[in-house]
Amino acid sequence: MEKNNTGAAPMFTDRILNGRCIIVTGGGTGLGKSMARYFMQLGARVVITSRKLEVLETAARELMEETGGEALALACDVRHYDQVEHMLALCEEKFGLPDALVNNAAGNFISPTERLSHRAFDAVVDIVLRGSYNCTLACGKKWIAAKKPANILSIVTTYAWTGSAYVVPSACAKAGVLALTRSLAVEWAKYGIRLNAIAPGPFPTKGAWDRLFPPQFADMIKPEMRVPLKRVGHHQELANLAAFLISDFSAYITGDVITIDGGEWLMGAGQFNWVDMVATPDMWDELEKTIRAANEKKS
Ligand code: HXC
Ligand code: NAP
Repeated sequence: MEKNNTGAAPMFTDRILNGRCIIVTGGGTGLGKSMARYFMQLGARVVITSRKLEVLETAARELMEETGGEALALACDVRHYDQVEHMLALCEEKFGLPDALVNNAAGNFISPTERLSHRAFDAVVDIVLRGSYNCTLACGKKWIAAKKPANILSIVTTYAWTGSAYVVPSACAKAGVLALTRSLAVEWAKYGIRLNAIAPGPFPTKGAWDRLFPPQFADMIKPEMRVPLKRVGHHQELANLAAFLISDFSAYITGDVITIDGGEWLMGAGQFNWVDMVATPDMWDELEKTIRAANEKKS
């Protein structure tokens, strides 16, 4: 599942990120690892960071073997500002100040909200929102002091603006990350710092699937059923978009969120989108007749 990279071609082939240093939080697994891999293929040196050093070290070795690039594995719990500062100091020692930060680390699970303890709510909000502002603030201070133009990309979700039942702490936190992105895009533009976000639809990863689509749901709901394009995303598709937003090709884009979900969130929003589920093409002659009949003038 982690290697769901087939089915989509890399968007760039030139080394458009050559010499850049990019920190990817949660970079040892899932989408973070897929983005890190592509950034390295495009010439970047990557710091992958999360809580589990062993997972990171294995991922870094794998990525370096695959790409011939450089990856540094650093343990850091993004909930703690002192750990973020320490991680940044080690990054500076090895690669210099980073050029970009990807706020990708997350925690999430489905649960009725009333079953959550306040600690469970904190656990998710602290990873997603506090973790993102800790990393953003620590990097931002350094970049501003050094007068270094830079780039922040945050991975949010489409329910950052729609909200969603059963993942309420995550929805609150992702909405906060989006507000952070839009606010600082304006405030820090004068320092040459851009901030953007990506809102992915379903992209299979072990981390998300174990916690959001448990086996008890497997026969009832397939994530791709909710997507107008009738499939899940390929990791390379997300990595393509991330590389574009990190690169100078998107130099005039800041404060935006780009959705990559095959139309999923809009399918939940349009009032008559359900028609697709009940009206087959051969029903339309009959349906049209019925509807036209309602227009006929009664004498
Ligand atoms: C109710 C739960 C729970 C559950 C944990 N808790 N799991 N409560 N239902 N399923 C409670 C615990 O009992 C505890 O509260 C509190 O939450 C903290 O739990 P810990 O295990 O101590 O927390 P921690 O070790 O910090 O782990 C954080 C975590 C875990 C979020 C709970 O799942 C994790 O490490 N996740 C990281 C990876 C991840 O979640 N990836 C998915 C991202 S996908 P008490 O009161 O007992 O102390 C994503 C996709 C979005 O975001 C959109 C998809 C389409
Ligand atoms: P994942 O593999 O579980 O990634 C989450 C990562 O966050 C893990 O590497 C985890 O590593 C790290 N992490 C968790 N808590 C941390 C902490 N306190 N400090 C530092 N790192 C921490 O899941 P994923 O699906 O790839 O998710 C990646 C991003 O995409 C997330 O922001 C998620 O919300 C977003 N997203 C995913 C989907 C999807 O369909 N997959 C859809 C929408 C949005 P450790 O356990 O080692 O700390």
